[in-house]
Amino acid sequence: MNILAIESSCDETACAIVKDGIECLSNVVASSKDFHEKTGGVVPEVAARKQMEFIVPVLNEVLQGDRSGKNIDAIAVTTGPGLAGSLLVGIYAAKTLSFMWNKPIVPVNHLVGHIYANFIKKIDMNEIQPFLPEFPAVALLVSGGHTDLIYIKNHGEYVYLGGTLDDAAGEAFDKTARLLGISKYLGGVLLSKKASECENNLLKGRLPRPMINEDNYDFSFSGLKTAVKRMVEMENPPVDTVACEFENAVVDVLVYKTMRAVNKYNARTLLLGGGVSANNQLRNRILLESKKRGISCFIPPVSLCTDNAVYIGSAAFFNYTEKNIDEINANPSLGIMDKF
Ligand SMILES: Nc1ncnc2c1ncn2[C@@H]1O[C@H](COP(=O)(O)OP(=O)(O)OP(=O)(O)O)[C@@H](O)[C@H]1O
Ligand SMILES: [Mg+2]
Repeated sequence: MNILAIESSCDETACAIVKDGIECLSNVVASSKDFHEKTGGVVPEVAARKQMEFIVPVLNEVLQGDRSGKNIDAIAVTTGPGLAGSLLVGIYAAKTLSFMWNKPIVPVNHLVGHIYANFIKKIDMNEIQPFLPEFPAVALLVSGGHTDLIYIKNHGEYVYLGGTLDDAAGEAFDKTARLLGISKYLGGVLLSKKASECENNLLKGRLPRPMINEDNYDFSFSGLKTAVKRMVEMENPPVDTVACEFENAVVDVLVYKTMRAVNKYNARTLLLGGGVSANNQLRNRILLESKKRGISCFIPPVSLCTDNAVYIGSAAFFNYTEKNIDEINANPSLGIMDKF
């Protein structure tokens, strides 16, 4: 089954064609990120206008000029969470194609999508790992707006274990990068690069590991950001050392609580998803811990960690919920457990 997937929840306009939920046949992403750098954050109106500008060229490129839809069996579209104006552009493109081509339309929760980046066939497959993730699994979703731990019994059977009570991990990276003068917008990658320049972390253990010892699966990162601010004001340490200690603190908590969930729920598989799963330290440490426990660990390639439509096509295939065109609506505040 070939699914044409459309993702437009924020500042990426993305379309992909995915075969049987696992094979990426075509993948195009346009981003309006550069326009938001100037303002230090996404202006929803600007993001929506850019979605309108990009959607037709991106669709045209992914379809390679074939506008008949003859090779497409269904259309998947992100319905939330995200910015209303941005979501609507993708949703109306999907509804129009569904109507014109008389093909089914499948709504997808963007957060569930992030996790399904792990079901896409990798080009250089690790032969030791089984190709498709097996259940039960524990998934750690770490993105710009969300940090959630989920127990997955099977496709579509999700149990929410916990999540952030305030800032998401990506948000904490971005706000701290700004505070340290590293970058005004989406500074996670640059903060991590700066952290890697630190050869000797003289601040080791000086920042808190929030909620690490609490007997739950929740997180809190806003206090960490404040602790960085106070440390900088009082001591003015080298930026690379603070960045290193900050990254260590976030990764310590994420890894510790995730592995506790893996143990408690006897997961066979650990799945990582969302933009922060591009973080090298998180990837390495999660892999190492999974190896120690003898479970398989899936981490998306860096290109599939941030927003794209490939994982939307995969999530649609494995959680197939066909809807009438009239039932498809934008839901900006959809949570990971919410049904459509
Ligand atoms: N190497 C990295 N280290 C740390 N953070 C990173 C890295 N790469 C990307 N990020 C962070 O990932 C986030 C973007 O991820 P993503 O695109 O999944 O978020 P989003 O789509 O904006 O949010 P959501 O999916 O929750 O709606 C940003 O906060 C960015 O700083
Ligand atoms: Mg996202």
